[in-house]
Amino acid sequence: MILVTGAGGNVGSELTGILARGGHPVRALVRTPRPLPDGIEAVVGDLNEATSLKPALDGVRAVFLLGGYEDMPGALAVMRDAGVEQVTLLSSRSVVGGHADNAVAGMHMAAEAAVRASKLAWTFLRPSGFMSNSLQWVAQLRAGDVVREPFANVPVATIDPYDIAAVAAESLTTPGHEGRAYAITGPGSLRPADRLRVLSELLGRELRLDPLSDAEARVTMSAEMPAKYVDAFFRFFVEGEFDDSAVTGAVQDLTGREPRPFATWARTHLAAFR
Ligand SMILES: NC(=O)c1ccc[n+]([C@@H]2O[C@H](COP(=O)([O-])OP(=O)(O)OC[C@H]3O[C@@H](n4cnc5c(N)ncnc54)[C@H](OP(=O)(O)O)[C@@H]3O)[C@@H](O)[C@H]2O)c1
Repeated sequence: MILVTGAGGNVGSELTGILARGGHPVRALVRTPRPLPDGIEAVVGDLNEATSLKPALDGVRAVFLLGGYEDMPGALAVMRDAGVEQVTLLSSRSVVGGHADNAVAGMHMAAEAAVRASKLAWTFLRPSGFMSNSLQWVAQLRAGDVVREPFANVPVATIDPYDIAAVAAESLTTPGHEGRAYAITGPGSLRPADRLRVLSELLGRELRLDPLSDAEARVTMSAEMPAKYVDAFFRFFVEGEFDDSAVTGAVQDLTGREPRPFATWARTHLAAFR
């Protein structure tokens, strides 16, 4: 049995589908009970409360794990005591050369350290920025044709969460991934305006990107997230602490096919933008 945490999220929802279609026994961790597609079993638990995970861990061999929760060492100890052998952690490429005092990089570095210390067999997935971050534009695109965006000049080798899930499925169901950290990206490096152009064509609308100045970006982002994360993203993309633009061949190497382009992600999720 494989337990998928974050099963309602961008990556976890793709992963439960891939595992179920591949005939692997899969269980989803959810915080509130709800029916899941494909008849996937859902068990309630909260990653912030380690002991709450116990019911979900019955018979589980491997866990797909999100990081950044309050007591990662405690959650991992509960998994090990329940008989879990293997963890695939969804980390971030920002850990490579990352600064532990940056709230985003530091969170992922701490999660990786907790997994390493757990004595469970581990694989780290270190993806680039997600294509699903474009869903942050949904409200603006429902209101009009202009998207205001911070860090508009920053290119990112953006990845489809489906490809993260495909690599996760490989790591959880085939041998040879223990102790490996995979820097996985999409097939090309895109600026926000490049992504918006694709959406524009698919939606048949004249969409326009209006870059936020750094001062405007700080105000907008501060309304949406704690100051430490705003600072972290400014350090990444204004001060240049993190270059997320380089494309890697890891998705191709691990899945035997090219990573999906942004147009495929956009076509699959187009209904959200209408
Ligand atoms: N976005 C990026 O560009 C990027 C890049 C690199 C790494 N990452 C990392 O990727 C992860 C996000 O992945 P995603 O986009 O698939 O996630 P997501 O769509 O934001 O969904 C998060 C999932 O986690 C669940 N969750 C939240 N708090 C929980 C808790 N206390 N206990 C159990 N489950 C909890 C949510 O469950 P509910 O349905 O109950 O809310 C939801 O299913 C984060 O760790 C992020 O740091 C993101």
